[in-house]
Amino acid sequence: MEIADKVVLVTGGGSGIGAGIAEAFVEKGARVAIGDIVPDRAEAEAVRIGHGTIAFGHDVASPDSWAEVKRAVEDQLGSVEILCNNAGIALPFKPMEQVSIEEFDRVMAVNVRGAFLGCHVFIPEMKARGSGHIVNTSSVNEQIPHQTFAAYSASKFAVSAMS
Ligand SMILES: NC(=O)c1ccc[n+]([C@@H]2O[C@H](COP(=O)([O-])OP(=O)(O)OC[C@H]3O[C@@H](n4cnc5c(N)ncnc54)[C@H](O)[C@@H]3O)[C@@H](O)[C@H]2O)c1
Repeated sequence: MEIADKVVLVTGGGSGIGAGIAEAFVEKGARVAIGDIVPDRAEAEAVRIGHGTIAFGHDVASPDSWAEVKRAVEDQLGSVEILCNNAGIALPFKPMEQVSIEEFDRVMAVNVRGAFLGCHVFIPEMKARGSGHIVNTSSVNEQIPHQTFAAYSASKFAVSAMS
């Protein structure tokens, strides 16, 4: 697959794996946008990676935020050709009866709704163009769930099924 000059959007790219994904794409010559719910993190990674990498504050659980980021990336880099739905959150290990409803809902909102919204926003134009790639980050916890990680494991099972 040709990566050079492709426009890539990486969600949750302000740290960890997402920052690594962004850097790897830049090394292959892609033009990369990093989104993160903590804008300063995204900005710091964009500066560190360099080569024209741009950064945005972005909450993947929010449809409005997706619309804003899509517009901003298009304005600055062009149409997104590769979307990496990387943003994800986990909870501290604890038995599921100790997971609050709010915690469960937030894990699902970021991990599942977030990936769904990214697909929902970008699939139409990718289909119309006849090209495009979406990579949804799941987890080995989807295949090897355990009792103190129920919400996260369930969310990643959903991400894999959706993908
Ligand atoms: N670290 C691991 O061992 C591991 C293993 C398997 C899968 N994963 C998955 O890989 C992905 C990245 O994990 P990581 O370890 O790099 O995590 P991380 O916590 O280092 O980075 C996640 C980033 O996502 C951002 N974020 C959180 N909520 C967001 C939201 N609503 N919108 C946009 N950004 C948001 C955070 O600010 C953070 O910068 C996640 O989906 C995670 O579930 C991680």
